[in-house]
Amino acid sequence: MSLDGKRVLVVGGGSGIGLAVAQGAAKAGASVTVASTNLDKLKPAAADVGGEAAVLDVTDEAAVEAFFAAARPFDHIVTTAGDWGRPRGGALADLDLQAAADVFKVRFWGALAVAKHGGPRLPTGGSLTLTDGMIAHRPSKGSAVSTAMAGAIEHLTRALAVELAPARVNCVCPGLIRTGIWDSIPDERRQATFERMTSRQLVPRVGEPDEAAAAYLFLMTSGYTTGQVIQVEGGSALGG
Ligand SMILES: NC(=O)c1ccc[n+]([C@@H]2O[C@H](COP(=O)([O-])OP(=O)(O)OC[C@H]3O[C@@H](n4cnc5c(N)ncnc54)[C@H](OP(=O)(O)O)[C@@H]3O)[C@@H](O)[C@H]2O)c1
Repeated sequence: MSLDGKRVLVVGGGSGIGLAVAQGAAKAGASVTVASTNLDKLKPAAADVGGEAAVLDVTDEAAVEAFFAAARPFDHIVTTAGDWGRPRGGALADLDLQAAADVFKVRFWGALAVAKHGGPRLPTGGSLTLTDGMIAHRPSKGSAVSTAMAGAIEHLTRALAVELAPARVNCVCPGLIRTGIWDSIPDERRQATFERMTSRQLVPRVGEPDEAAAAYLFLMTSGYTTGQVIQVEGGSALGG
């Protein structure tokens, strides 16, 4: 199954892993739309992939519904949307349950909104690919909410694969990937931080966005694969 001539939507495609997915899909001949909340971020990404930019906030269900109702149908939808502004960790005893619920807003409820309004429009053989993260499988102290949220995305994937069949639904679970989210660590400390975080992995280095993107491209084009989660994590789960 080829992406040549296919219409691909990447929600979160203005940066990071999503941008690498958009670039890979465009290179494979797809017509790509990148979508997220910030048009300034999307414009250069759309120019880079020779595609279109669409402003879309996945936390606004009415906007998601209106977007898919107005858009020409997509063959494949990927969402890598994730927000970083709110606190996502902390001691259980100090947990604010409303803040904990908010952690699900973009990554979980946003993905479900995209599935609800975009999924039924996918053609047979088309696909929806969600994103979680290895925190689902490697909880640490203070990660209860993030771990539960990421794990919920994997279970959502399996349920949506049943709901939306014969369209296919899968998920990519990245480990540490070198994107702009790590830029808040000063340059001089970032490499040392990556080395500390990855030293026990079987592949002891940070992953690159195009290495994560390869999994999304596989899931889009593998017409016999649905309900699956691919971990792209350098062997962090096995590395102790
Ligand atoms: N990088 C890693 O090490 C890593 C590890 C594990 C999991 N992940 C997961 O992989 C995904 C992508 O991460 P990344 O590193 O590529 O981060 P990123 O560059 O920040 O990409 C996330 C994208 O989501 C968009 N977004 C945020 N809120 C949105 C909303 N309400 N509606 C629509 N789009 C929204 C952002 O664009 P706007 O600001 O324009 O909205 C941004 O382009 C995230 O879900 C993250 O949790 C990443």
